[in-house]
Amino acid sequence: MEKSRAMFVGNSDGIGLATTKRLLAAGWDIVGVSRSESPITNTAYYHKVADVSEGRYTDIMNELAMLGPLDLCIYFVGIGELLNPLDMSGEARIIDINLTGMLRTAAAVIPHMVRNGRGHFIGVSSLADELLSSEAPSYHASKAGFSNYLGGLRLALKPKGVYVTNVRFGFVDTKMAKGDGKPFMMNVEKAVDHLERCIRTKPACYTAPKIVIPLIKFRKLMMTLGGK
Ligand SMILES: NC(=O)c1ccc[n+]([C@@H]2O[C@H](COP(=O)([O-])OP(=O)(O)OC[C@H]3O[C@@H](n4cnc5c(N)ncnc54)[C@H](OP(=O)(O)O)[C@@H]3O)[C@@H](O)[C@H]2O)c1
Repeated sequence: MEKSRAMFVGNSDGIGLATTKRLLAAGWDIVGVSRSESPITNTAYYHKVADVSEGRYTDIMNELAMLGPLDLCIYFVGIGELLNPLDMSGEARIIDINLTGMLRTAAAVIPHMVRNGRGHFIGVSSLADELLSSEAPSYHASKAGFSNYLGGLRLALKPKGVYVTNVRFGFVDTKMAKGDGKPFMMNVEKAVDHLERCIRTKPACYTAPKIVIPLIKFRKLMMTLGGK
């Protein structure tokens, strides 16, 4: 039987690394792309060092996309910094890496999926996508744009046999989870369980953990009513 092939972008660490290990163990062939080298040594794994914000990223992705048909592509890349109103020079970079990097990735792999009439593109977003933030407005805005874009792309591609899933996580125990209060934080293996379910069922949007949903809705309501 032919092996399933995946491309993971942002998988040298965190949720992406754990997902790579899990799917390699399940027999997938995987191409990974990250700023750093990968700790993985496996004959079914090929790693390319690249930064999604560098000029040659599109060329690199186009070359990787030509290696063979992809069943799955997951965009894991995400960065976030606290806002410093006295030095906002890094704000645009967060939008570029989190949102525009995903668009560059989709632009490289999705036309091939459409021509093949199959494929699944998953973007890892955040529950931050529906909240305003005074601490990290660029991160929240990047995830709002990310989730909105993937929702529209899903509608455009489903008739062509290509699925798009937007995954919205709450806190996951990686180096990215900053700050003191991290309610209902899940471990990385639990996050991978959720991603495996998404790979199987291909939903339009998937939120985990579900227990956080009413809390987010409540916080959003409070903001709308004029609280913080
Ligand atoms: N952890 C959480 O609490 C949480 C919650 C909700 C959503 N998320 C989302 O989940 C995704 C994965 O996060 P994580 O917690 O696994 O973070 P992580 O441990 O920091 O991993 C991020 C990965 O992205 C790569 N990366 C960062 N900038 C890159 C760039 N410019 N070009 C290429 N690769 C780059 C990193 O590689 P290098 O180390 O080489 O830079 C790393 O492999 C992110 O999109 C994040 O927003 C996380």
